[in-house]
Amino acid sequence: MSHISLHCVQCGASFPANMLILQCDRCQSPLDVFYEVITSQSPPRDLSARQMPIPMHDESAGVTLGEGDTPVVLLPKVGQLLGSERIYGKLEFLNPTGSFKDRGTATLISVALEHGVKEIVEDSSGNAGASIAAYSARAGIKAHIFAPADAPSSKIRQIKVYGGEAHLIAGPREAATEAAVDFYQKNNLLYASHNLSPYFVEGTKAFAYEVLKQFGDGLPDHIVMPVGNGSLFIGAWKGFQELKAGGHIKDIPTLHCVQAQAVRPIVDAFEGLEWSIKNVQQTVAGGISVGNPPRLQQVVSIIHATGGQAVAVSESEILRWHGLLSAQEGIYAEPTSAAAFAGVESLIKQGHIKRDEVTLVPITGFGLKDTAEY
Ligand SMILES: Cc1ncc(COP(=O)(O)O)c(C=O)c1O
Ligand SMILES: [Zn+2]
Repeated sequence: MSHISLHCVQCGASFPANMLILQCDRCQSPLDVFYEVITSQSPPRDLSARQMPIPMHDESAGVTLGEGDTPVVLLPKVGQLLGSERIYGKLEFLNPTGSFKDRGTATLISVALEHGVKEIVEDSSGNAGASIAAYSARAGIKAHIFAPADAPSSKIRQIKVYGGEAHLIAGPREAATEAAVDFYQKNNLLYASHNLSPYFVEGTKAFAYEVLKQFGDGLPDHIVMPVGNGSLFIGAWKGFQELKAGGHIKDIPTLHCVQAQAVRPIVDAFEGLEWSIKNVQQTVAGGISVGNPPRLQQVVSIIHATGGQAVAVSESEILRWHGLLSAQEGIYAEPTSAAAFAGVESLIKQGHIKRDEVTLVPITGFGLKDTAEY
């Protein structure tokens, strides 16, 4: 019998580890991977992300492009600007396809390969699509990627170069999701949605294992992330929780979520405000332009559980930090990634991050992927 199953994040219902099941059939909530055996054991002493529990039966059959183990660098000038000396960036844009998505994709596509999948459907603002196209190429799987027609052309180009079939959909980000759902249903294909798939989130938890390896006993006090669907946010939390359950860490860093004021469903939910998808406005932070994130409740619970905050930042603050990161630190990030620094500034000003504390920001995507001049 398999030691892997899927559990509903809301009602706890249990399902077999089957790639066709993306949501709970009782309450429609998303699912997480659950290990019958491994959760009762602690991870091995010599920790590395390569040794964390993963949702495969034959781990050697996985697909990898060398994702993860991204460097951590101190950002002294950002620190000076904010009056907080110990602000670090984890250079997620050095992953194989230029964004943090690759850890999640490696796991998702590895599981798809193990399940004998030959053709998949995905929708994305661009980065996850490019990542899935790359790993699918490596695995010999045909990938249909649905993306907004106004997604950055470099991301679309990247999807096509990897051999992915790019389906460009006019309208908001949600229109690409609807078109993908329609397409997989009509063609009887596997919908690999990285937003819903429990396997994608399961792969991103390696982030936490890396942070422990890089920081050791002095884990960051705060981790501040740009959040759309929350795949890195939730994955990091899951990884830290595993590490805590195994006795490897005492405390989990405080996890803060940053969104654009233009698209702020999680911030509004955190503040107890009503959010409607009709409120979505245009933002330069396309990666976090998600009007209706399926894992919203999960993200909000994690913020509360770690004592974090959810903050919304303006377009001008995002662009200011985009410029500062490049000109002051030599880090060319996507505007989406720069949003997190506007969030750090706001969290320091509000006193949620003390100036002598250690803050880590994953710099989630490479500037070369989104070169529009704003
Ligand atoms: C560069 C970048 N940063 C952050 C995010 C947000 O990731 P998530 O939607 O998993 O929260 C995305 C998502 O596309 C992204 O492309
Ligand atoms: Zn349920």
